[in-house]
Amino acid sequence: MQHSAQIAPGVWWLGVNDRRKELFENIWPLLRGVSYNSYLIDDRKSALLDTLEEGSDGSYIERIEQLLGDRKELDYLIVNHMELDHAGQIEAVLRRWPEARVVGNAQTLKILSAYYGERATARFLQVADGEVIDLGRRKLQFFLTPWLHWPETMMTYETTEKILFPADAFGTFGTIDGVLVDPAFSKYEEEMRRYYSNIVGKYSLMVQKALAKLAGLPIDTLCSLHGPVWKRHASEVIGLYDRLSRYEGEAGVMIAYASMYDNTARLADHIALQLTESGVNEIVVHDVSKTHLSHILSDAWRYRGVMLGSCAYNSGMFPLMESLCRELKNSSLKARALGLFGGYSFNGGGVRSLLKWAEEMPWEQVGQAVELHGRPTSEKLAAADALCAAMAAAISKK
Ligand code: FEO
Repeated sequence: MQHSAQIAPGVWWLGVNDRRKELFENIWPLLRGVSYNSYLIDDRKSALLDTLEEGSDGSYIERIEQLLGDRKELDYLIVNHMELDHAGQIEAVLRRWPEARVVGNAQTLKILSAYYGERATARFLQVADGEVIDLGRRKLQFFLTPWLHWPETMMTYETTEKILFPADAFGTFGTIDGVLVDPAFSKYEEEMRRYYSNIVGKYSLMVQKALAKLAGLPIDTLCSLHGPVWKRHASEVIGLYDRLSRYEGEAGVMIAYASMYDNTARLADHIALQLTESGVNEIVVHDVSKTHLSHILSDAWRYRGVMLGSCAYNSGMFPLMESLCRELKNSSLKARALGLFGGYSFNGGGVRSLLKWAEEMPWEQVGQAVELHGRPTSEKLAAADALCAAMAAAISKK
């Protein structure tokens, strides 16, 4: 049976690691896996906070039974989030404890009904923002924090131990490797940024609204639905989410390029080298044909400077660059300095399409786009140097 762990008196983690799944949401690579977390509070009344992905743990019901003991029924199933990596075992829980009240908000009810029908909605207890449920010694207070990243998302606050159960917020990719509570933050920081940029970033405005709502609430423990339980490092986790949702970037440049015969690639490398000459110390270069856009998005959220280069492809930009551009736009990332370059081939289209895309982005385009006609010439390289100088100046003033 999967191990369960006590994280505070009467509060249990019933999570599970998934190292088998290749793609989270069938799109984002899981290089270091992911955990799905569920929690149980055992008081005079008992509450299960979210469930697990269906099939992720065959012993889940048994684990809950073991913690509750023979004398106890499950009183509440709190649904902070309805995405199926957490709501996947609602049916199994309600089959075992049909009298449990399912707790959520008005938006929860709609999605719950769509996935599970009357079996789940018949015992639904709708809560409003700030409403409290008394478990006996403890109270649970609910904060409606919609669109993190689904419309029904809410957070539950346990008032005695000051534990926040924030659904996906403050979550991260990466399994829990032995240390459930407070592993080194640095071990998860990169995967947390990737998780944020891939899953939550589009809703950064709502993250800021949620943080404002939580301001002043003492939080001793953060129990997200993905990743470790944070106590001592909770402020670092909240700080990273705060900076990302304000679109703060580090003083560096992410270069992503698309190239068929390496001319645009050579220009990308020249630009990377020249950026260091211009005083930029943090630079990362991605070939869109090699690196999954998950990582490219994450680095775009990390650095203040973004430089994109595309060869021409059927008189447009390279398809994988087009895909990256669509996702960058879709992610709603703001406050970036943008530099463009590429190759004309026989009819252009790469740089032309990038320039057109840039018009619709809320970013500052710096310098003049550099477009190769054939191989890089000294004249084009000099233009690239000027572009690098403009980029270095732009990221240093932010
Ligand atoms: Fe981890 Fe939005 O589900």
